[in-house]
Amino acid sequence: MIAERWTRKMGGMVLSGLLGLVLMSGVAWGQSIPMEPMVSHEKQAPAFKVTPRKDSVLKFYPCTECHNIIPGNPQEREFKSFHLDIALDHGGGRFWCSTCHHTEERDYLRSSKNNLIDYDKSYRLCGQCHFQRQKDWFYGGHGKRVGHWDGERTIMLCTECHNPHSPSIKPVVPSPPPKVRSGLPFVPTEHHDNVRLWDKYLNPNNQESHE
Ligand code: HEC
Ligand code: HEC
Ligand code: HEC
Ligand code: HEC
Repeated sequence: MIAERWTRKMGGMVLSGLLGLVLMSGVAWGQSIPMEPMVSHEKQAPAFKVTPRKDSVLKFYPCTECHNIIPGNPQEREFKSFHLDIALDHGGGRFWCSTCHHTEERDYLRSSKNNLIDYDKSYRLCGQCHFQRQKDWFYGGHGKRVGHWDGERTIMLCTECHNPHSPSIKPVVPSPPPKVRSGLPFVPTEHHDNVRLWDKYLNPNNQESHE
């Protein structure tokens, strides 16, 4: 009895050891599609961590919660039930979901080689097409650092600021013009001549027309 239980336990240890090896080799468990490796600037830049998103911010992660049950459908189409809020405005009409989302391993993004990219390493996806911005970001020239100024660097993922489905930064609504300083009469600038404001007050001949 005891010997039997012991051999089972040993078997378990061998199995979890194997699992550990598989995980360490950078291959996601259960399949053989490799992870997209670091690009050279990521290795050379000072070490950094990112503000994670997949287990905190993303509302639909893990994707496999539904996509393990629903059959995949690579067809470009208008959605009827879920993801109705996603309006692709990226890539000038040449992208579909599968440009960036892995079709077989649904909890991952995909690289151009169809390798897996973790959602918390989405900069590896963006950098394939936006190499210069990614390089600046690695070295602190684009994006934002959070937390302490010294010690380990923590920086925001691209997706903190850019919606990957519609990434352009929308122009800010202009703030209202400043009020006329008190004491000065209001002088409308449009519908009037193009005389500069100060000329009007320096040259008394210009003033009657506004009384
Ligand atoms: C709550 C369930 C649910 C979750 C969670 C979910 N999806 Fe979906 N997804 C759906 C449904 C349902 C469809 C089919 C929609 C349709 O055809 O109208 C769909 C369709 C898609 C499609 C279109 C391609 C296809 O195979 O149908 C993509 C891409 C997709 N989902 C990506 C994701 C990603 C990425 C995540 C995780 C970040 C995710 N989904 C999480 C329900 C879900
Ligand atoms: C340019 C690459 C790109 C394309 C194209 C793209 N996605 Fe995404 N998608 C991403 C990235 C990157 C994230 C992770 C966003 C984040 O970190 O906030 C994401 C996140 C999502 C999520 C999770 C949102 C959440 O809050 O949980 C869903 C669902 C999703 N995408 C579905 C789709 C569907 C459906 C399409 C096609 C209509 C699509 N995506 C097209 C890159 C893309
Ligand atoms: C497969 C190539 C590809 C990938 C991957 C990709 N982009 Fe783009 N991106 C483009 C192209 C092409 C354009 C220019 C067309 C357009 O404006 O959509 C663009 C445009 C942009 C713009 C600028 C829009 C503007 O206002 O000019 C931003 C910002 C951007 N992408 C951010 C991202 C981020 C963040 C990611 C990663 C989540 C990403 N991109 C992934 C190809 C890509
Ligand atoms: C802290 C917020 C933030 C982060 C993080 C961030 N960006 Fe940006 N990004 C911006 C802003 C704001 C602009 C517009 C101003 C500018 O051009 O610098 C911009 C501009 C861009 C543009 C150019 C758009 C154009 O009009 O040319 C691209 C491409 C881009 N970002 C890609 C990325 C990529 C890729 C990452 C991650 C590696 C990233 N960004 C991370 C805020 C951010």
